[in-house]
Amino acid sequence: MQLPQTPSMRLDGKRALVTGASRGIGLGAACALAAAGAHVVMTARSPDELNAAVESMQQAGYGCEALVLDVTNTSQVRESLTALPAFHVVVNNAGANRPGPMSEASEEDYDFVMNVNVRAAYFLAQVAIEGMKKEKYEGCIINTSSQMGHVGGIDRTIYCTSKFAIEGMSKALAIEVAEHGIRVNTICPTFIATPFTQKTLEDPERVAWIKSKIKLGRIGEIEDVMGAYVFLASDAASLITGASLLIDGGWTAG
Ligand SMILES: NC(=O)c1ccc[n+]([C@@H]2O[C@H](COP(=O)([O-])OP(=O)(O)OC[C@H]3O[C@@H](n4cnc5c(N)ncnc54)[C@H](OP(=O)(O)O)[C@@H]3O)[C@@H](O)[C@H]2O)c1
Repeated sequence: MQLPQTPSMRLDGKRALVTGASRGIGLGAACALAAAGAHVVMTARSPDELNAAVESMQQAGYGCEALVLDVTNTSQVRESLTALPAFHVVVNNAGANRPGPMSEASEEDYDFVMNVNVRAAYFLAQVAIEGMKKEKYEGCIINTSSQMGHVGGIDRTIYCTSKFAIEGMSKALAIEVAEHGIRVNTICPTFIATPFTQKTLEDPERVAWIKSKIKLGRIGEIEDVMGAYVFLASDAASLITGASLLIDGGWTAG
């Protein structure tokens, strides 16, 4: 009897782009994709931290390179990406948050968060998809969204606005590019210990709130999200598009 075979989760020969890859979840995604065989172009604004991350990965034997890039500078994004060979896997991960009550939010706070979390991801995906279509790559876009793209959170009106937006954008884009075999999905972590959440995780009241919501009873680590990037990028996920993969320890389960 011929048994079904699990499709490969290797990414040998694939080119991946990860934004916000110098630390935190983006660095985790870059390491995971590189460990699966992809060559990873890693972007961030601060060259020192980015170069240090790339050097450490190269020392570990991973194929990767640095690309200093502010994703909110859409003309720079277009110029940089069109100068490079196309990518099979694109992870829109760079993100921002300005937590606080809506009553204290400024228009600048709103524009800042929406600009990085939504606008930049939108136009980067636009350029990346042009490259995939040109090369006839059945590639994929993976947007790092959040559980806050599914539920509300304290002091997070702008952040939730942005993450619900990326959820909608990903679904609509998934429909648009499906005919080219290109897939678009999101990964939605709960609170993960990174520099991004450091301040929140130093506040005992907030930590009590977070732990009361995460059914598995612990805050996430970068390693908790890494496998999801490889899975969604791989042949094992070839029929998955327009989906949202929650890694929330059960927060949104009820
Ligand atoms: N940590 C969590 O609990 C959590 C939970 C759910 C979702 N997320 C999402 O996961 C993503 C990554 O979060 P993280 O916790 O890993 O954050 P992080 O540790 O602060 O890392 C953010 C990364 O994005 C880069 N970045 C920020 N603004 C950028 C810009 N304008 N252009 C290019 N790169 C930029 C940073 O490098 P530079 O500053 O040098 O540019 C850094 O590499 C975000 O989209 C966030 O919303 C995080």
